[in-house]
Amino acid sequence: MSLSSIINNIPKAELHLHIEGSLTPELMWRLAEKHSVSLPYASVEEIEAAYNFEDLQSFLDIYYAGAGVLKDEDDFFALMWEYLTRCHQENIVHTEIMFDPQTHTERGIGFDVFMPGFLKAMKKAEGEYGISSFLIMSFLRHLPESSAFETLALAEPYYGDIKAVGLDSSELGHPPSKFERVFKKAKALGFKIVAHAGEEGPASYIWEAIELLDVDRIDHGVRCQEDERLMDYLQEKQIPLTVCPLSNLKLCVIDDMKQHNIITLLERGLLVTVNSDDPTYFGGFLNENFEALANALDINEGVIKALAINSFKASFLSEERKSLFVDKIAQM
Ligand code: HPA
Ligand code: ZN
Repeated sequence: MSLSSIINNIPKAELHLHIEGSLTPELMWRLAEKHSVSLPYASVEEIEAAYNFEDLQSFLDIYYAGAGVLKDEDDFFALMWEYLTRCHQENIVHTEIMFDPQTHTERGIGFDVFMPGFLKAMKKAEGEYGISSFLIMSFLRHLPESSAFETLALAEPYYGDIKAVGLDSSELGHPPSKFERVFKKAKALGFKIVAHAGEEGPASYIWEAIELLDVDRIDHGVRCQEDERLMDYLQEKQIPLTVCPLSNLKLCVIDDMKQHNIITLLERGLLVTVNSDDPTYFGGFLNENFEALANALDINEGVIKALAINSFKASFLSEERKSLFVDKIAQM
């Protein structure tokens, strides 16, 4: 079997995906027309052509503006349903999906609008595709701690529908320590904890996420390589890193996919996984991220299997469900 067929056919979990970053230019265009929102683009092609970023912030500006077309429950349903349909096509059998409540609450759109839309699509995907999914509520780190606390309070009616709490948006200048207290509260409420760290920010942000936020996983984390002791720690404790290759390329964290360190980290025994982050902005969904790695790096079938196994090991599934998928892949 070719490497591409293995990538396509192997069961996978995706653990780092921002639902607002899966908005296709076509859906953005359709919703802008539906709600008479004016976009700074003359066509779908122009939207696509605008996706050239210099760094994380230049992407975030366009990403938050794009989310402005999402207004009613049906829009959030359509967004989630399109992503889960793509998962079905790519053999993603489990996904843990981040959403940014503050991007919507700041525009006057509440949990009672986006949550029912998301949950309806997730339930439908479970029934029609057999895909399981969890939600990760992410706080925007460029906003103050008080806004994260308010968001945690607003989410209360939906605590049962949310698996984990995360931290995203502009990393530099907004270290994990800024959110130590709100994450302590989230942990006490029983949520799993994840945080973006070591994408653009230094290795010290990864230490902070571990020591101050008590994270279960690090999102990105590729800059751990700058700290030998940190790499040893991540390996020893098997703290997962949800790595996003095309994101790193598009946001100029690396200049060329050949420079990507994911295989170096894998060979060193770190629990690394492959993810798409914001697929419609970064030029590829999950399988395209695997393909991009396979085209640039020395990767064989064993590496693809190891990465797919890691995706389940690093997930928040029950130990029983994890073993089911891990055994299935091992027998392939
Ligand atoms: N980093 C930080 N914030 C984000 C990202 C990311 O890669 N994607 C969406 N919000
Ligand atoms: Zn991300």
